[in-house]
Amino acid sequence: MIRNTASRSIAAVSGEQSSSAVATGTLAALATILFFLITALPVSAQTVRPPDNAVTNAAPPQDGANPANVPSKVKTQNADYWRGVRSGVRGNVSIPDKKAGVLVQSQGEEWRQTRTAVLPRYGSYALFGVLFALATFYLIRGRIKISRGLSGRTIERFTDIERMGHWLMAVSFIILGLTGLNLIYGKEVLMPLLGKDLFASMTALGKWLHNYIAFAFMAGLVISFVFWLRHNIPNSADVRWLAEGGGMFSKSSHPPARKFNAGQKILFWLIMLSGLSISLSGLALLFPFQFSMFGPTFALLNVFGFDLPTNLARVEEMQYAALWHGIVGLFMMCIIIAHIYIGSIGMEGAFDAMGSGQVDENWAREHHNLWAEEVLGPDPDAGHGNAAASGEDATNPGGGTPEAAT
Ligand code: HEM
Repeated sequence: MIRNTASRSIAAVSGEQSSSAVATGTLAALATILFFLITALPVSAQTVRPPDNAVTNAAPPQDGANPANVPSKVKTQNADYWRGVRSGVRGNVSIPDKKAGVLVQSQGEEWRQTRTAVLPRYGSYALFGVLFALATFYLIRGRIKISRGLSGRTIERFTDIERMGHWLMAVSFIILGLTGLNLIYGKEVLMPLLGKDLFASMTALGKWLHNYIAFAFMAGLVISFVFWLRHNIPNSADVRWLAEGGGMFSKSSHPPARKFNAGQKILFWLIMLSGLSISLSGLALLFPFQFSMFGPTFALLNVFGFDLPTNLARVEEMQYAALWHGIVGLFMMCIIIAHIYIGSIGMEGAFDAMGSGQVDENWAREHHNLWAEEVLGPDPDAGHGNAAASGEDATNPGGGTPEAAT
């Protein structure tokens, strides 16, 4: 019994010894592996791709060789080579997709920053700036009223086709503007409110609408251009209109104007030119890598003393197109917000021109006296203090409501 117990305890001791030997052996093996891993790390790290945001100035070694042993001439050649790759040097490829010749397009990061941070920031400053300016103008000036009140007689200002062109352009622009704003601000502003799923579906629909409604906008732009071009050629009356600030800041001033005043002409040309530009850059985005419009445009601008890059990679063309499309879109929104204000709540009687196509005679004589004279003949009240011609207020000679006599 005693022998049994003793032999069992000897066995237990030898068992403990053997298990501690195993543990020691395992530890030693682990330590050895760890040692080899640690010592091998600097060499293997050279073959592992660094994280995307890693910044290094070291030239990569040739075929895994120890950089310390690489001759300095070879090092310099390597550095030049990779510097070239980093700065977007274009090589030759035999596959059809020539874009693959550019391995690294470093300007892409700069572009991303501008597109996702700078453009939205300055765009929101501009949009809120315009809204603030209009609200201030409204508070100070109030609604611009018809000085002589409504006459009750109307004349045709725009034909059906003119209004059709205007509303095609206007409605499509508003849809394009809202869906475009969603592409610039939606992720920050709407996604937290709507949730990711709803925002994703809404944005997919918005993008689809944006792509197709663009063609309606272009059609409206062309119709408006064709019908209104002849009324938007500058003339001498425009100088006086501009000098008097369009009478916007004084209740008694109505500078002379034909069918369109100088302010409207400026708006017309801004919309036509920026509309053309946004359409071209939109087409470049809709049919990627098919057009090169920025290289030739920059070359043309360089003739006038600019120093812009002309040999653009195709991906750079796309980047410029996306950025320019956003800038012009925001610019157009700013001017069109001001236009919508003056064409609706900002001026009494203005909306009718695009609503029914008929405007009140007194409105026509005050805001477009030269045009009204062409259509209606001389103003019978001109000798009695016609506001439009003399720049003074008249006292309700048309028999209408003397709203603006205040
Ligand atoms: C709800 C939105 C809009 C309203 C209420 C509106 C209203 C008007 C009105 C009343 C006129 C005629 C002014 C006059 O008789 O002298 C006009 C003209 C015009 N509209 Fe609009 N408009 C709107 C949107 C747009 C948009 C989005 C564009 C362009 C994309 C646009 C471009 C023009 C142009 C080029 C003219 C002729 C020049 C001028 O009168 O300034 N409109 N609009």
